Amino acid sequence: IKGKRCLFMNKKWFLLIWTLIASFFLVACQSSSSSSQSAVEAIKQKGKLVVATSPDYAPFEFQALVDGKNQVVGADIDMAQAIADELGVKLEVSSMSFDNVLTSLQTGKADLAIAGISATEERKEVFDFSIPYYENKISFLIRKTDLEKYKDLDSLASANIAAQKGTVPESMVKEQLPKAQLTSLTNMGEAVNELQSGKVDAVHMDEPVALSYAGKNSDLAVATVSLTMKEGEANAVAIKKGNSDLKEVVDKVIQKLKDDGTYQTYLEKAAKLTEVEQ
Ligand code: ARG
Repeated sequence: IKGKRCLFMNKKWFLLIWTLIASFFLVACQSSSSSSQSAVEAIKQKGKLVVATSPDYAPFEFQALVDGKNQVVGADIDMAQAIADELGVKLEVSSMSFDNVLTSLQTGKADLAIAGISATEERKEVFDFSIPYYENKISFLIRKTDLEKYKDLDSLASANIAAQKGTVPESMVKEQLPKAQLTSLTNMGEAVNELQSGKVDAVHMDEPVALSYAGKNSDLAVATVSLTMKEGEANAVAIKKGNSDLKEVVDKVIQKLKDDGTYQTYLEKAAKLTEVEQ
């Protein structure tokens, strides 16, 4: 009897423990799948992907006349379209100044922020980022007549430098050229106008953008001198923290666009569009 009872007890305990383990896994799986499915599911339910951007940054995002209509175009926008296609929804581009782009992601107004955004350590604390899609450099756009004048950092040390508010190029000037006079502007085009009219001596921005402005304006050029960039701050798509299922989709699309050279063709297409613009 003793032996039998013991066996019975064991069975009871075994069942109890097994039930506990099973229900633990059930709950764990359920909660993880519901939280990871929410972002993509919500977008599919809405039927659209809302992407926040600041269209003053050719070839990444800018405004151009396409088919007689003023539209937001650029390599980042084509990439956003590819992500929307993968999700099977429409793309809605929401334009705003760069210093509002990340905020609109945080408040849930946008699903993604794609605006030539550098994935910095600071931003990574607040947002999730996709895998990088473009390794960039940051440069000074200057007047062509100043090419000889601004050849080293000493010559720029007390210059009047403009940068876009809330950007990495802005904080780099603050940190590395503390004696320079910094003019922070919300709009990149405005900063370039200030450069052309002589109100500022240089504008600090991503190099492809500086090259694009220089290509369109024969009075402008990219300086040969540049500040030191932190490593690993390539351009990436910003995603609200925790939206891991959305990040998975975005990463998958970016990996493909990089592997098959499509992102590069987006950049070339954008460069052609900027030529048309001028
Ligand atoms: N890469 C820089 C940053 O993330 C500048 C981005 C500005 N983007 C724009 N669309 N204006 O700070």
